[in-house]
Amino acid sequence: MGAVIVGWGTALPDRIVTNADLEAVLDTSDEWITERTGIKERRVGGTTAGLAVAAGARALERAGLHGSDIDQVLLATTTPDRMIPSTASDVQHALGIEGGALDLNAACSGFVYGLVHAHGLIALGARRVLLIGSETLSRVTDWHDRNTAILFADGAGAVVLEATAGTGQLLGWDLGSDGSARDLLYADIGGYLQMDGREVFRRAVRATVDSARRSLERAGIRPSDVALAVPHQANIRIIDAACQRLGIPMERTATVLHATGNTSSASIPLALVDAIERGRLHRGDLVLLVGFGAGMSWASAVIRWEADT
Ligand code: ACO
Repeated sequence: MGAVIVGWGTALPDRIVTNADLEAVLDTSDEWITERTGIKERRVGGTTAGLAVAAGARALERAGLHGSDIDQVLLATTTPDRMIPSTASDVQHALGIEGGALDLNAACSGFVYGLVHAHGLIALGARRVLLIGSETLSRVTDWHDRNTAILFADGAGAVVLEATAGTGQLLGWDLGSDGSARDLLYADIGGYLQMDGREVFRRAVRATVDSARRSLERAGIRPSDVALAVPHQANIRIIDAACQRLGIPMERTATVLHATGNTSSASIPLALVDAIERGRLHRGDLVLLVGFGAGMSWASAVIRWEADT
């Protein structure tokens, strides 16, 4: 059994924090943040479960389904609301889903990790999987630390995957991690995010390019065949550098980070759904999803978009 995406949805907190708001409390400037990251504003607030439920409900509605139609919930998050139980349990209960529920933490690569795992579950017999990336990174960000406060924010994005006869949408994938680099970006339990920004930047470009190339090769396609690249939304300069090396122009790349900041595992579905809503995705298009994050982890997948948008 293959799988196809049949529904999608997002949720963002109402509260907007602009670069000007940060200027007022940090030794930074709108000019610096815009030039170095591409971020202009971000959304802050809510809970990981609350955002996930809102995004998940929209994805179900778009698919014309109810919670009872879903077999499994996979929630990609680095910011669960509690240590125990999984935040996916809250989501399952709120949406009336009766099957399995689990959290998955592969940092900013989490959504694409989840996408590949969801295909695996469907290949093993699940009918429908609700995959959500949801984060409240504002809760683990030190708002007095200009190294991180300018980057991270909150949000959620979700897709419903459904079994289909035949091979389905997934043409190639690559998941990886280099645990020797785990201390470049971390938050201890109860602590704030700590990051070696320059080193993360350097590795992020390399990991994005290498992983994307492996997925493209496995899918048997060239960068010029990609109708839309949906990269992790961390920094516009990382996206620019990676896309340039891959030979995918920015006109064929989805970006939302100017309005969302880095929402970790929510960033790729937020960018994907934004592209759908702007009419940038059509049935049959080849889509490259690629992320990197703490771990250092990376993940990419090439899918053939099979839904009407
Ligand atoms: N405002 C103003 N000045 C600043 C700020 C700030 N917020 N932060 C740093 N600076 C200063 C530095 O002190 C330095 O000053 P100096 O030249 O006098 O020493 C100068 O700006 C340059 O600092 P760099 O750290 O070299 O700046 P860089 O261009 O590397 O940008 C940034 C920093 C934005 C953090 C970048 O390195 C980056 O985006 N790295 C990747 C981060 C990332 O993607 N993290 C998420 C990974 S995904 C996950 O798993 C969550």
